[in-house]
Amino acid sequence: MRAYTPQTITDAVIEQMATTPDPRMKEIMEAAVRHLHAFAREVNLTPAEWIKGIEFMTKVGQACTPARQEFILLSDTIGLSALVNIMHDKTKMEEATSASLLGPFFRENTPRFERGAQIAKSTEGGTEVVLYGRITNVQGAPVPDAQVTVWQTAADGRYDIQKGVEETDCRGIFQTDEAGNYLIRTVRPLGYYIPLDGPVGQMVMAQKRHGMRPAHIHFLISAPGYRELVTALYLAGDAHLEDDVVFGASGDLVAYVKEGDAASPLKGLPSIHFDFSLARETEADRRAGRVGADPAAVTQGNGHEAKPYGEPPPAVATATTQPKKSGIFGGLFRGR
Ligand code: BEZ
Ligand code: FE
Repeated sequence: MRAYTPQTITDAVIEQMATTPDPRMKEIMEAAVRHLHAFAREVNLTPAEWIKGIEFMTKVGQACTPARQEFILLSDTIGLSALVNIMHDKTKMEEATSASLLGPFFRENTPRFERGAQIAKSTEGGTEVVLYGRITNVQGAPVPDAQVTVWQTAADGRYDIQKGVEETDCRGIFQTDEAGNYLIRTVRPLGYYIPLDGPVGQMVMAQKRHGMRPAHIHFLISAPGYRELVTALYLAGDAHLEDDVVFGASGDLVAYVKEGDAASPLKGLPSIHFDFSLARETEADRRAGRVGADPAAVTQGNGHEAKPYGEPPPAVATATTQPKKSGIFGGLFRGR
């Protein structure tokens, strides 16, 4: 009878899993076990820390509803979503506009709008902004009839779904015209706290991170024959362009809000002009999927009702500068 040691147990597990018929599943599970075991050895994981980790992951799962994907939020805040996104972006066959995070607020249920329509139900308290530009291929030829889906925070800095699970606001689907032009009216989005009222928020606050994303507008652009582009525009001047809590902002996606832009199709309003280019689609692109999903599509059948999101903790700024004594990770790492 063999006796396992911290060194031999890893190979024993991999040996036993060697019967896995699916080669990709085998590769992924072997690497996951190797890295997970190496992690436990590196930090000399104690039983109490192991169970804290299990409790944390359980809470993350329990927080998932058809309107909330706490696991995607966890993946986002530890940079895993950004990593997978960046790796996937490097596989495109042509140098087109770069990708950014889909995030947890994409909804399949998005209304269609006519060219130039306003997607915000209310512009009160916000600044109306025009978004315009061209969708082209990498040679600069227009892509007519491309579908341009946008979503963003409202003038109060929150997504519709954070205010009510049935709400639909500040999101819309548009088509480009024959010259590949898109034209959208919206309100200027604000930088905002990611949802901090769940276990991932507790982790972020225990780490004394600010928890903010810079102001941004999401785009999902698709057209037959082209690789789907999931991206976002980040507003120049935002204080958190360099330290986005989910690592999505990048320099080439920074957009400028201009006053009095003579080229804007809608005069008298501040505008953002951004042209996007699409790469041709490969067979692999068709199977690649997205880094993100409508929470309702991922959280099927767990029996959890969609609950309203909580308010951001009033003292987030304080929590990020003062030691916090409780919370999932607070106790675990206290005194280290
Ligand atoms: C967002 O884009 O809104 C977002 C992305 C990742 C986590 C939370 C929010
Ligand atoms: Fe977002």
